[in-house]
Amino acid sequence: MQNPNDIIDSEGRSIPKHIAIILDGNGRWAERRGLPRAMGHKQGCETLETIVADCARLGVQYLTVYGFSTENWKRSQEEVGALMKLFRFYMTKLIKVANEHNVRARMIGERSRFAPDIQEGICRLENETKDNTGMTFVFAVNYGSRDEIVRAIRKYTIEAIRSGKSEEEILALTEQDFSLYLDTAGMPDPDLVIRTSGEFRISNYLLWQSAYAEYYITPVLWPDFNKEELLKAIDNFNTRERRFGGRLKK
Ligand code: IPE
Ligand code: IPE
Ligand code: MG
Repeated sequence: MQNPNDIIDSEGRSIPKHIAIILDGNGRWAERRGLPRAMGHKQGCETLETIVADCARLGVQYLTVYGFSTENWKRSQEEVGALMKLFRFYMTKLIKVANEHNVRARMIGERSRFAPDIQEGICRLENETKDNTGMTFVFAVNYGSRDEIVRAIRKYTIEAIRSGKSEEEILALTEQDFSLYLDTAGMPDPDLVIRTSGEFRISNYLLWQSAYAEYYITPVLWPDFNKEELLKAIDNFNTRERRFGGRLKK
């Protein structure tokens, strides 16, 4: 269903303003080839680079990708170590990709748990792409929705105490006010959430923000995901009737 403000591509598809992706299946991709899981993550980073560029070219305004969850620390030291190594490398590589495509990068998640050099890499990626005016690429690392919501409540409460807010003022807090305390402050909610590798769950991703998102699950493993698969997801999105709890005008 198209709206007058939608971006329409040359083939007539309406391009979702905000696409969120749960990239999944890197480990299985590697295991099926008898390779170490880290190879799947490496291949997954390559896919990420091409999908960022594809989305920017298609006119997507926000692309939010789940790269590492607050729960992923539970994995083996070896796997977490391999992922951190990849972050170091791709954080720098992504600066180039982002600048080539006029993409502004931003991180969400709790970054203080990362080693100082990774935190610096995150800041550099954000700073060196901040003046780009095209798509915003949001990378969710050490991200978990529940953690994000709890951090937002802490921030709000501390501010309320410090500024001596009255009970009346606290009761006046709206959903919109609260959303400004989330890591995604200022961003529109995702329209389409894509999950690769066939898993039907959201794994603590954008719980607040995707209240009315459309979900698309594909069995394709993330390292095999490509523009063709992305277009399939967008075509499927184009068949959805979004009602937001209301009724369709016929
Ligand atoms: C997604 O791939 C990447 C991360 C969660 C870091 P997985 O590593 O979860 O791959 P599978 O699900 O084990 O195949
Ligand atoms: C979700 O994938 C997290 C990321 C994609 C970063 P997982 O592979 O960690 O999710 P579960 O464990 O299958 O739910
Ligand atoms: Mg997984």
